[in-house]
Amino acid sequence: MAKKITNLKELPGVGDALARKLANAGYFDIFSIAVTPPHVLSEEAGIGLQTAERIVEAARSYVQIDKFETALEVWEKRKKIKRITTGSKSLDELLGGGVQIYAITEFFGEFGSGKTQIAHQLSVNVQLPEERGGLDSGAIYIDTESTFRPERIRQMAKAVGLDPEEALKRIYFARAYNSNHQMTLVRKAFQMAEEGDFRLLIVDSLTAHFRAEYAGRGQLAERQQLLNKHLHELLRFADTFEAAVVVTNQVLARPDILFGDPTAPIGGHVVGHTATYRVYLRKSKGPRRIARVIDAPDIPESDAVFMIAEEGIRDAV
Ligand code: GTP
Ligand code: MG
Repeated sequence: MAKKITNLKELPGVGDALARKLANAGYFDIFSIAVTPPHVLSEEAGIGLQTAERIVEAARSYVQIDKFETALEVWEKRKKIKRITTGSKSLDELLGGGVQIYAITEFFGEFGSGKTQIAHQLSVNVQLPEERGGLDSGAIYIDTESTFRPERIRQMAKAVGLDPEEALKRIYFARAYNSNHQMTLVRKAFQMAEEGDFRLLIVDSLTAHFRAEYAGRGQLAERQQLLNKHLHELLRFADTFEAAVVVTNQVLARPDILFGDPTAPIGGHVVGHTATYRVYLRKSKGPRRIARVIDAPDIPESDAVFMIAEEGIRDAV
């Protein structure tokens, strides 16, 4: 992968001790340092702010993300953005061709709306070759609610012609026991993606632990701050590994509460091509579900109908 420049010591002024501190904090490559704000790096790696500023600046000029480029170059890059098929043509079309790399896609909706089923399907489909809508890669699956079902993966794998055992082997699964553990697991995911090929990271559910643990009125600000940090790390994962990040979020009454203003970019500092898509899922008759993309600048607001079939996510019949 072009962007993984793993030898931190190629940066001027970074020796063994500093490289070790950075690695201990989960920074294994120059690109991930380049997209991190200095104060965050300082805090997380336990190094002085000035040192952090110097390293981030060196990393930025090393990977050249501090230079302007023409809109034509941006367009050329955008054409190369890859996607993972959801299994439903109409849902793929709604998303502009499937779930994008370099982005977080959030599926939100009430219980039974299909969030976990989509997460299962994507962790199978990412394994498909590119010509079939995959990225020929593995998936990392962080489960906060104990709803991951290997049996369902087997079923979905068989239905797309993958060997069920092989498909299970390419999904790395961990249960997150609380919000702090959940964030630690994302750190671990960075390490795994350095060593193996993982271009899909799933967090199902992104918000459940945070909601449960920071339920008090006075705790809202703290919860949002932690969630923000978590999301930044997920964006950094998407950028560093050219990966898709998919998160789920349950809604009860109001579908609009997670990020405040959903049009405000969460990752302001993160490189420009990183985007966030929010997909609202609703139940319809029987296995049918209705999806709508909310507030994406490049996707018109329209509905797609799909269904949860025995084989997995498919077009509605
Ligand atoms: P919460 O996590 O509770 O918020 O819901 P969710 O949005 O994650 O819902 P989920 O993806 O778990 O969807 C559950 C629905 O998927 C069920 O109501 C079933 O309709 C369907 N489903 C789950 N497993 C199967 C299966 O093995 N076969 C079929 N045909 N449908 C299934
Ligand atoms: Mg679920």
